[in-house]
Amino acid sequence: MLTKVIKQLNLRINIFTFKLPLIHTSMKKILLLFVTAFMFFSLNAQKFDKLAKTPPMGWNSWNKFHCDVSETLIMQAADVMISSGMKDAGYEYIVIDDCWQISRDENGEIVADKDRFPHGMKYVADYVHSKGLKFGIYSSAGTVTCQRRPGGFGHEYQDARTYALYGVDYLKYDWCGSTTQDAKSSYTNMRNALYAAGRPIVFSICEWGQSKPWEWAGDVGHLWRTTGDIGDNWNSMIDIFNRQKDLSRYAGPGGWNDPDMLEVGNGGMTTEEYKTHFSLWCILASPLMAGNDLANMTPETKSILMNNEMIAVNQDTLGIQATCYRDNGDYQIWVKGLSNNEKAICLLNKSDEKKSVLVDFNLLVQIRTMTRRFRPPSGSTGFGGFGAPGAAVTPGAPGAPGAPGAPAGAVPAGQRGGTPLTLANYRIRDLWEHKDLVLKETSIYVDLPPHSVKVYRFIRK
Ligand code: GLA
Repeated sequence: MLTKVIKQLNLRINIFTFKLPLIHTSMKKILLLFVTAFMFFSLNAQKFDKLAKTPPMGWNSWNKFHCDVSETLIMQAADVMISSGMKDAGYEYIVIDDCWQISRDENGEIVADKDRFPHGMKYVADYVHSKGLKFGIYSSAGTVTCQRRPGGFGHEYQDARTYALYGVDYLKYDWCGSTTQDAKSSYTNMRNALYAAGRPIVFSICEWGQSKPWEWAGDVGHLWRTTGDIGDNWNSMIDIFNRQKDLSRYAGPGGWNDPDMLEVGNGGMTTEEYKTHFSLWCILASPLMAGNDLANMTPETKSILMNNEMIAVNQDTLGIQATCYRDNGDYQIWVKGLSNNEKAICLLNKSDEKKSVLVDFNLLVQIRTMTRRFRPPSGSTGFGGFGAPGAAVTPGAPGAPGAPGAPAGAVPAGQRGGTPLTLANYRIRDLWEHKDLVLKETSIYVDLPPHSVKVYRFIRK
């Protein structure tokens, strides 16, 4: 690669010299140096492309095990990822969160806790890789991690090299110990360090949404936390969900809003609530990082985490994050555009009461969604979804079915010589019942227990 670059440079300099024969050889050298330096920095000034083209899926130790991590736990998680069917369902990354590291040695090298990781981190990474999975690790942009282990500040290039040597595929980079640092510069610095180390690593920015990373992180990381930490309870989960409402426009292949890891199976919510939690993360095109004890999953937990039809919605290659189509407070309708002019529609009952809602499928089928997503140019504040994100789109209103004025930059489904948006052209799949709806009327009452969802996929016939 380097030889190729140098050869190209020589060629360019030769052409240059040919045109300006008076340039002295030493001048030529200086020029070469400048161009090389320029090339070097521009080569480094990017994140790894081709990664996280759909939301990353995996498991992370934090939500369940906190600091109680060890090589046994991580290797067991890799084993169970296979035996439980999680790998086949799409889960790929095994990520050790905080507390694997204990100090730095006299050369500033990060040192793993020898009691918990007696064979070192490369050994664990090799084991994870031997199972066909990918390996992730954790550090912080500040001087210490959130559990006061050594952070990465001032050691970025050294740590990135170390991680590459371990065989790391995913780095979660926290914000603890950061005091007066600038978030964008700090994370860009680590991004450049990872790039210089040469191993493709998914860069997971964990800055809790404080400096609105969705506005600047598209070129820096592959996912960015949008809020503080999730707790294993309904209020925390739904509060985080509510905060994603205006962020849809920032998500897309290679860069995702991260509303934090899953709590499914950790015991603090009911099965219904966990189904809702999982569904919401799926329609938001959120990273799906399981955070439970994989070795001891109940059948309910398995059926949620491995609901293939929901996962397919999450992993759709267009990478569109759902937007709120109708907001009636406790009752909302969310829509996620999918490839092939399909879409997922999620009816959400946030209230503590059961609701019976009249659903007009004839209307729902007509909701237009984007057929492609694109990242806004650097510095701009995103791009339009259908209508304004969060806005209710009503028939006849701009952005509504059949109305003029499609949002700029997007081609509405069904108006590209494609399938008209009618019930005759779609079957409607209930993604939790795993059944197609048989509609006698186009409007039916749907029962929504407290804190529950119904998720339908409109599938092209
Ligand atoms: C922060 C992060 C969490 C977790 C802990 C570890 O709170 O937001 O996700 O990584 O640190 O200490």
